Amino acid sequence: MIQISKNIQLAVDLLNNEEIIGFPTETVYGLAGNIFSEKAVNSIFDVKQRPKTNPLIVHIAKIEHLDKIANEIPENAIKLANTFWPGPMTLLLKKNDSIPDYITAGKDSVAVRIPNHTMALEILHAIDFPLAAPSANPFGMISPTTAKHVADFFPNKIKAVFDGGDCENGIESTIVGFDNENVIVYRLGAISIENIEKIVGTTTQFTNENHSPVAPGMMKKHYAPNTNFILTDKISIEIEKNNHLRIGILTFDKNYDSSAILHKEILSKSSNFSEASKKLYAAMHRLDQLDLDLIIAERFPDYDLGKSINDRLTRASEK
Ligand code: TXA
Ligand code: MG
Repeated sequence: MIQISKNIQLAVDLLNNEEIIGFPTETVYGLAGNIFSEKAVNSIFDVKQRPKTNPLIVHIAKIEHLDKIANEIPENAIKLANTFWPGPMTLLLKKNDSIPDYITAGKDSVAVRIPNHTMALEILHAIDFPLAAPSANPFGMISPTTAKHVADFFPNKIKAVFDGGDCENGIESTIVGFDNENVIVYRLGAISIENIEKIVGTTTQFTNENHSPVAPGMMKKHYAPNTNFILTDKISIEIEKNNHLRIGILTFDKNYDSSAILHKEILSKSSNFSEASKKLYAAMHRLDQLDLDLIIAERFPDYDLGKSINDRLTRASEK
């Protein structure tokens, strides 16, 4: 049985023993192990059922460690790290030779960030290796934002999840890479493009459409509930059309009424994007557990964190 714990020393002992743990970050809970232990990293892939071709993010304790992870670091990467670390900004950089190929799926780039969460940082400071950590959900499913989500996903597959409360940001880090000094946004996330552009000027958004094969992290279907899930601009019409079904709705700030609606998740009655992103995945987890016929989500205004939330809702609704 998995234990839910707050004992930092236990986390450190397990990690030093090449075990993997569930641990909190400010974005989502991660499934963490020593990047230099092939055994630990293999268990991450096994437990998540994640294809080995999909590389892992390296989590470090302080910016001084970056030189041991990456080479040829662009000026704009330094600027972003100085501005947003610790925080939900993942940088894709040319990897240092010391980073094992099983972390990067054989690529010559490595993804790295410093998480902004007290417990995560305490753990990282108490060990002498970085942590590889994907989100702590089975591959393709909704990311966990509470320790209980992790325990429910993996009741018997890991020894412990460390409880650092509800994740503050609630959606994953923004991933950016560099083409010389050009900044390319690979995954929308908890830091908006608008806030990145204040630091580095215009960015380019990487999309699947103009690249093939699809890059890791850009799977169309992802963050997916088991229940049928649709995303719409015209929620009243969809509710009406499906009113013979048992429906759940997920909206930003508005309320809708219909006798077909058995459960409502209104993410921020005060129309606040941060509040909505913090609550998003927990709301999706709750809706998914009600055995509904259909979940109808309303598209967010498409700017700032609304854009990142729309990205997740779109992937969750892919067939
Ligand atoms: O907020 C987050 O980033 C969370 C917390 C735990 O830090 N982690 C997370 O990891 O979301 P994961 O594995 O669920 O998503 C990371 C994405 C993956 O889709 C992976 O393909 C991509 O980052 N990625 C990691 N390393 C990469 C690399 N070297 N090159 C290209 N993509 C990479
Ligand atoms: Mg993930």
